[in-house]
Amino acid sequence: MKVVVTESYDASCAYVADMICNLVNEKPNCKLGLATGGTPVPMYQKLIEANKAGKVDFSQVHTVNLDEYCGIPETHDQSYRYFMNHNLFDHINIDKANTYVAKGMGDSAANAAELEAKVREGGVADLQLLGIGNNGHIAFNEASDVLHATAHVETLTESTIQANSRFFEKKEDVPTTAITMGMGDILAAKCVVLIATGAAKTDAIRGLVMDDVITTHNPSSMLKMHENVVVVIDKELADLVGYKA
Ligand code: PGA
Repeated sequence: MKVVVTESYDASCAYVADMICNLVNEKPNCKLGLATGGTPVPMYQKLIEANKAGKVDFSQVHTVNLDEYCGIPETHDQSYRYFMNHNLFDHINIDKANTYVAKGMGDSAANAAELEAKVREGGVADLQLLGIGNNGHIAFNEASDVLHATAHVETLTESTIQANSRFFEKKEDVPTTAITMGMGDILAAKCVVLIATGAAKTDAIRGLVMDDVITTHNPSSMLKMHENVVVVIDKELADLVGYKA
């Protein structure tokens, strides 16, 4: 695992945006695994700027997103389809037909099966972007005694519902289940890039970068089994974690 410690969160976003632009320039028809949440938003802004400046062309890129809430339609401003359109796809020259976000409405088991098929359609992701939950979750694979390898319906933990309630009017509005890629889907990607910032992520990142322990109670720790993982954190978070480059 490569751990990159940057001067600031903005520098972390620039680092990851550069990685993605370099990949797309090298392989214009690459497949990207994308993530939602607050953390990648400024990184997506940098991709938009690079695209508008003519530095990167997304016209042949395919994308698959990690997850989607169950029970809210894609027109809902907290659905992850809405998030991706609003924060990235509407502002770059990607063909939306080449972007996939799991369906939140309808038969959840069928929606999970469709996500599972999309993870491998045309080959696995060249790069999978990840955030991390305060409890170490990646996508919506929650810290628990058991993790799942494939796409499935996950019941969100109290910690995740609490963390995500900042995006909703009230906590009761946060969906309690989601469709998510499984751990095997994430580990199948050729390269995994995880970006984290903020004190709330201290314990999760400590469990990821400070030792070789793998535990289902910090799902991100399974990334230690992958050959090509880049964890990008700012100096402030590295100091809280006690990580020395
Ligand atoms: P955040 O979420 O970027 O909003 O902190 C990350 C996650 O839960 O994976």
